[in-house]
Amino acid sequence: MTDVPAAERNVTGESITLDGVVKRYRGQDKPAVQRLDLEIPAGQIVAFVGPSGCGKTTTLKMINRLIEPSEGRILIGGRDVTKENPDKLRQSIGYVIQSGGLFPHWTVAKNIGAIPRVLGWDKQRIAERTEYLLELVGLDPRTFADRLPKDMSGGQQQRVGVARALAADPPVLLMDEPFGAVDPITRVRLQDSLIAIQHELGKTIVIVTHDFEEATKLGDKVLILSEGGKVEQYATPEEILASPATPFVEEFVGSGATLRHLTLSRVRDVEHSEVITARVGEPSREVIARAKSAGHTWVVVVDEHGKPRSWPTLDELGSKPEVSDYLDKRLPVVALTSTLNDALDSMLSASQGGVLVTDGRGSVVGALTIASVMEVIRGQLADARADEHNDSYASHAGETPS
Ligand SMILES: Nc1ncnc2c1ncn2[C@@H]1O[C@H](COP(=O)(O)OP(=O)(O)OP(=O)(O)O)[C@@H](O)[C@H]1O
Ligand SMILES: [Mg+2]
Repeated sequence: MTDVPAAERNVTGESITLDGVVKRYRGQDKPAVQRLDLEIPAGQIVAFVGPSGCGKTTTLKMINRLIEPSEGRILIGGRDVTKENPDKLRQSIGYVIQSGGLFPHWTVAKNIGAIPRVLGWDKQRIAERTEYLLELVGLDPRTFADRLPKDMSGGQQQRVGVARALAADPPVLLMDEPFGAVDPITRVRLQDSLIAIQHELGKTIVIVTHDFEEATKLGDKVLILSEGGKVEQYATPEEILASPATPFVEEFVGSGATLRHLTLSRVRDVEHSEVITARVGEPSREVIARAKSAGHTWVVVVDEHGKPRSWPTLDELGSKPEVSDYLDKRLPVVALTSTLNDALDSMLSASQGGVLVTDGRGSVVGALTIASVMEVIRGQLADARADEHNDSYASHAGETPS
């Protein structure tokens, strides 16, 4: 599910076109955005990245007209939206901001139902939609529907923010640094669930970030902006890393190009090892026998959906007659779409030599060891050295390296 290439995904999103868009704020002599032309394909994720003040938020907010462009046209699905009623327009565009932006005195369900209520949906339809969306963003509706935002973690609130933005099934989702305020591990999980959601729903998503790594991980294409909303490069992450278009991009991308490649390599590209799974309530003896015959010293306990709960050794299992339902909150887990960098981070912060790997639905599909990640890094270092050698050879020979 999560491995579907962009071209083969189900697309429900619409294209976005910026045609000569300019924003001049009153009292500023230079425009915040100077003549921006941009084509965002339907059903893709495009990440805007660039230094503070370069015009990312301004550009994003012009798409849903929270900020009115001074000049130019914006088309969504080929429709010129600069002439539409801005309130109507905003009901058809999901918008997520950094803190989740939830109404603090409203329950989760009421927050998610905000736009459908304005659109006049009946109660039953809103309730069904809310339940579907909470499941989609990985929150149990029975636990969370009636909670207030203050009784949830930052990451959970952010998930509700995404569910709310998707409530009326908009073709376009705009996100302004949505994961800026959560810890690094939660951030990786939220990024992975965003990718999974995108692959399932095929929306067009524009996400603003100041983190180049996040941009390359999430973006099918990345837009690198410099001051005044100037386009430095608009290309796939691979193209940007392989051939930075300007000295600005080169500096932005940084010199640690080899490590950067860890951001491009995904967990699914590396061979992961098999795991033995056990269900809660299974007799421990049977599980231990199964694991031993496969030569394993530990198993992964999963729930009825195949989602991992804990990662006990056979000794730990043997201390109870049945597999316990203990939920290990610090279990190191990455998705197939996670980057190798995420996987390394997750191993290091959990002080484990490995991580569990899950598919787009969160079910365990295997484990990844630190040794296999190191092997990839060594391979990339060797390739990088070979490239350097070739480059210097080519320039000595007076040729342009290809
Ligand atoms: N309401 C406003 N009035 C005047 N100037 C503004 C206004 N909003 C933004 N600006 C200016 O426009 C420029 C672009 O701002 P914008 O918020 O789009 O940047 P950004 O790329 O989102 O930055 P950051 O990464 O810090 O969020 C900045 O120079 C900013 O000071
Ligand atoms: Mg901003």
